[in-house]
Amino acid sequence: MLTCDLIKKKKEGFPLTTEEITYLISGYVTGAIPDYQMSALLMAICFRGMNQEETLALTLAMRDSGEVLDLSGISGSKVDKHSTGGVGDKTSLVLAPMVAALGIPVAKMSGRGLGHTGGTIDKLECFPGFSCTLSGEQFTENVNRIQMAIMEQTNNLAPADKKLYALRDVTATVDQVSLIASSIMSKKLAAGADAIVLDVKCGNGAFMKNEENAGTLANEMVRIGRGAGKETVAVITDMDQPLGNAVGNALEVKEAILALNGFGPADLMEVVYALGVQMVVLGGRAKSLTEAESHLKEVIANKSALYKFAEFVEAQGGKAADVFNPVHLPTATYTLEVKQRESVYVRRILAEEIGRASLIAGAGRLTKESTIDLGAGILLHKKRGNYVRDGESLATIYANDLEKAKEAYGKVLGAYEFSGEEQKEQPMVKKIVTG
Ligand code: URA
Repeated sequence: MLTCDLIKKKKEGFPLTTEEITYLISGYVTGAIPDYQMSALLMAICFRGMNQEETLALTLAMRDSGEVLDLSGISGSKVDKHSTGGVGDKTSLVLAPMVAALGIPVAKMSGRGLGHTGGTIDKLECFPGFSCTLSGEQFTENVNRIQMAIMEQTNNLAPADKKLYALRDVTATVDQVSLIASSIMSKKLAAGADAIVLDVKCGNGAFMKNEENAGTLANEMVRIGRGAGKETVAVITDMDQPLGNAVGNALEVKEAILALNGFGPADLMEVVYALGVQMVVLGGRAKSLTEAESHLKEVIANKSALYKFAEFVEAQGGKAADVFNPVHLPTATYTLEVKQRESVYVRRILAEEIGRASLIAGAGRLTKESTIDLGAGILLHKKRGNYVRDGESLATIYANDLEKAKEAYGKVLGAYEFSGEEQKEQPMVKKIVTG
């Protein structure tokens, strides 16, 4: 096979065979195929697309480019959850202990934040002593003992995707649906769960800006999951404003703890329950979504999800006491109020801009090597539909560097859009894709 012939074939709009795709991916991982040829192929894919068979073949080739985790040592049906990424998305921190409290094993691989979106690992590291570096044996042991463990994604999980993603990032080839779907699903499939629930974010703070594109991505990922023999469900949820009120690592952890205590913001809890019911049914703990919802409500009401979270934090090196009284979590020296100068309704909050403001305040990484300030971030006091009076605070900026807080100020204010008219409530869940 000649790589150049395969690039030409795709350029002319013909589908590649599974064998050809496997050859391209393994050749790229070994270095036999150079970046310039892979870049040309990626661009041809952007213009010509890939059919379902090609997309599945690409996903499986990337999954098999590294280690595929064997979770068979963990008893019960393992259900994984994945979000396509948003601002203020602390859903996993709330949902994982809720599901684990119902006896469904949560064996999760998570990542760090990059750019304006956060990562679960950074958030968990707000607990002094907490570590996501576990050996395979510890990981399995913890899940069998307390039903929950979260580990940092290893470098050997779908390494082809890692290399390809870095190339896509610098060749303007990220935003192609088959490439996005195969990238996400290759890692999910390599992480070894029995079933997958996907939270496909839709809106200005997400990869997919509108419902149509989010639907296409959701369908593609559900098809891949099913094609690989895993039960997969996608829930398309709103990311036209940050999720919940807190954006930034320690602020989000504190909000997740509030949620586990029964005081979660309504929008966050709507997403938590929408994803949770799918996980509970797939995990075999309920026969219907309604039954699943009542189980989930119970673990919040009786605090068993909160205790499960504390048990999990302790098992990974932190202190349970920091969950019950999070005073030792990182904080910020400076706070700056962002005030509104007119009485109006909030029409929209550009999530991406809030994410960028939080990054400027110190909470995010510009490159994989940047260090982050776990105490920095933005706390929103007004969300979509809220009425703001002249002089009221829209949000508080938290930073350990006053100059950074001042820099973030304009971004936060600019993220808010107002209207003189009362706003209609919008549902957080736009669609559920079951295949
Ligand atoms: N997240 C991924 O893991 N891959 C993509 O291509 C896009 C978002």
